[in-house]
Amino acid sequence: MTAQRENQVFDMIEAPRLGEPYLLTPGPLTTAYGVKEAMLRDWGSRDGDFIAMTAEMRERVLEISGLSAPEYDCVPMQGSGTFAVEAMLGSFLPRDGKALVLANGAYGLRIGKILERIGRDHTLIDKGDYLPPRGEEVTAAIAADPKITYVVVVHCETSSGILNPIEEIAEATKAAGCKLFIDAMSAFGAIPIDLERVHYAALAASSNKCIEGVPGIGFVVAETSELEAAKGNCHSLSLDLHDQWIGLNKDGQWRFTPPTHVLAAFVEALRRHAAQGGVVARGARYTRNRDVLVEGMRALGFETLLSEHWLSPIIITFFYPADPAFDFNRFYDLIRERNIVIYPGKLTVADSFRIGCIGQLGENVMREVIAASAEALNEMGIKDAAPTEEALAERKKLSA
Ligand SMILES: Cc1ncc(COP(=O)(O)O)c(C=O)c1O
Repeated sequence: MTAQRENQVFDMIEAPRLGEPYLLTPGPLTTAYGVKEAMLRDWGSRDGDFIAMTAEMRERVLEISGLSAPEYDCVPMQGSGTFAVEAMLGSFLPRDGKALVLANGAYGLRIGKILERIGRDHTLIDKGDYLPPRGEEVTAAIAADPKITYVVVVHCETSSGILNPIEEIAEATKAAGCKLFIDAMSAFGAIPIDLERVHYAALAASSNKCIEGVPGIGFVVAETSELEAAKGNCHSLSLDLHDQWIGLNKDGQWRFTPPTHVLAAFVEALRRHAAQGGVVARGARYTRNRDVLVEGMRALGFETLLSEHWLSPIIITFFYPADPAFDFNRFYDLIRERNIVIYPGKLTVADSFRIGCIGQLGENVMREVIAASAEALNEMGIKDAAPTEEALAERKKLSA
C-alpha cells in the first residue's frame, strides 16, 4: 500500500501531499510517505524486533559503502550528523596525533572547530568558498609537517555544494603514509566512492541526507582495526564509537536510549534505496534534478556560485540578483507560498541562496521551483536575475 501511495503522491506535484511543503534543503529533506509511515508504532529498545532492525541498518549501510565485514563495520550514533563527525574524530584521532583538515566551506571549518574543542592538534588548509583542496596541496602540507598523520576532508561541502576530489586527496594521503577520514554527510548514498582509489579509515554520514530518512541518527563506517585501536581514546562517553561498537556487538543493543522511530524510518529508507537501484540510481535522479534546476534558473538570469566542473548533484548555490529590488526574505516567502522551502546561503564572501536537489522528489518539482522563482521575481518587479558584475568578477578571480 505504501509504495502505491508514494507513487501517487510523487506524481502529484500540483498538490503536494497533506499540504506539506517540498523541502529543497539539504536535510532534513522531503521523505517518502512510507518512510514516515514506518514510524507509526513503538518499539522496545531491548526487544528482538528492534535489535534486528539495528543489525539490518548496519548491514545495509555497509553494503552501500561497498565495504564489508570483518575488515569494516558500521556504528550508528544518536544525534545529528555533527555528532557522528565529532564521534569519529574524537574516537579515532590519537590524542598525540596531528590532523590536516581540508576546508572549503562551513563544514570543513566546523571540523577544525571540533578538533580545537576536543584538544586535537591540527593544521588547516582553507580554500575559501569556490575551490576544492587538491592532492598536491595535501602532499606539500604533509611534507612540510612530519607530525601530520591524519587527513580529514568533506566529500560534498554542502555550504557551497562543491564536490571535492576525494580520489586525488585519498591517493596523496596514502602516498604520504597518512590515514584518511571523510565527512560524507551529504554525499553518502548518491555519490559513489571509487574504492580502488580511495582508502579511508572512517567515514561519517547521517540518516537524513541521500538515504532520505528522517533526522536523528548519524553513522560511521570504519575499519575494524580503527574501532579496536580506539579503546579509551575518546574525549566523551556518549560519543565513544569504540564503546558503542563493543556494546552493539555484545548484545545488539545501543548503550543509551536509541531514537527508535528514527531507526525504523531509516531502515525503511535504506530498503527503498536498495530497491530503487542503490547509489547509482539515486545519483542519477539527483543529477537530473540538478541539470533541470540549473538550466531553468539560468534562463531567469540566475548564476551559480561554482563553475560547472565542481557543481555537485546535491545542492546548488545561486548568487543574489543584482537588481536592488531583490530581497531574499521576500523571495523566500513568495516561494514558500507555493509550498516550496529553499535555503539561505552559508558563504563567507558572496550573498547567495541554495536549492537542494536531494530528497524524495524529481525533476517535476524542480520545474515547480523554477516557475515559483519566476513568479517571485515578477512580483518583485525584477526582469533579470543576473548577479552583480563584482560577484562574477570575484568568482572569476577566486576560482582561477
Ligand atoms: C557535509 C556536512 N557535514 C556536516 C553536517 C552537519 O550535520 P548536522 O547539521 O546534521 O549536524 C552537514 C549538514 O548539512 C553537512 O552537509
